[in-house]
Amino acid sequence: MWNIPFLPPTASKEGEAISALYWTISWLAVFFGSIVLFGAIYLAVKYRASNEAVRRDDAVETDMKLELTWTLLPLVLALAIFAWAAKLYADIYAPREGAYEVFVIGKQWMWHCQHPNGVRENNELHLPAGRLIKVTAISQDVIHAFSIPAFRVKRDVVPGRYNTMFFTPTQPGKYHLFCTEYCGTKHSEMIGWVYVMQPEEFEKWLAGGGAAAAPTAMSLEEQGKQVFEGVGACNTCHMNPNSAVKAPDLRGLFGSKVKLADGSTVVADEAYLRESILNPAAKVVAGYQAAMPAYQGVLSEEQVVQLIAYIKSLANQKPAGGQ
Ligand code: CUA
Repeated sequence: MWNIPFLPPTASKEGEAISALYWTISWLAVFFGSIVLFGAIYLAVKYRASNEAVRRDDAVETDMKLELTWTLLPLVLALAIFAWAAKLYADIYAPREGAYEVFVIGKQWMWHCQHPNGVRENNELHLPAGRLIKVTAISQDVIHAFSIPAFRVKRDVVPGRYNTMFFTPTQPGKYHLFCTEYCGTKHSEMIGWVYVMQPEEFEKWLAGGGAAAAPTAMSLEEQGKQVFEGVGACNTCHMNPNSAVKAPDLRGLFGSKVKLADGSTVVADEAYLRESILNPAAKVVAGYQAAMPAYQGVLSEEQVVQLIAYIKSLANQKPAGGQ
């Protein structure tokens, strides 16, 4: 009788911490709400007009101790909750090292997920238990939101920018995946499942090409290399010693500081690479002409993710000619 599914199960490390915070806030609200409610009822009864016995003439009008208590106590409680919540927020949204990274692309109306080794899935996401996961998400059209209630995590999935979040699934099982931003007619059908597996099981699944929905023998960076040399034709200019157009060498680029033509400096992260692929004129590297064509509308978000994975894989190589 009492088995009411009040909340979805908590299946991530961060989710357990968030649930604890949630219940603390809820019970505090119940506690202070009760004081006000039952205090009001008690006083209404005690000081009802027909109760002659109570003297009202010498009622105390102010009490410094009482005033200080009901000012300072809520202040301390509210600040403690703020600090606690800020820490949990940072656990999910601040960058952390050593995560297993999956790319998520939202489009009307499906979730497209990509693993580093090239395995792709639609409306399904397989993850290993006990490992920190980094989700990097972008939308190909309108604003979506990637939400896994059992993990207590949610992130807006926005066109034109990579949004990330971190969590650690703990319990193997099958969990709901939702789009929680109204995104058009079939928003309510933009749902899926997250499968959390034991690490060994997950490795097997991953090595076997996933659920064979779209198995691919190539890793993400190999796919990126193919885009680089194929549809993108990036290799006509980049890292081509015979190129007529001078283009920046991409070896050792990822994570480095880049000097721009306007004198400013940027770090070559995913967002910078994406912008420079789709809209190269936005940030021109110092010493180069803005000669590169824009790939906006030419490459899909999926291909951009692959290209970035390829450029990332060049991070440890030395550029030619000491550029
Ligand atoms: Cu996508 Cu709602």
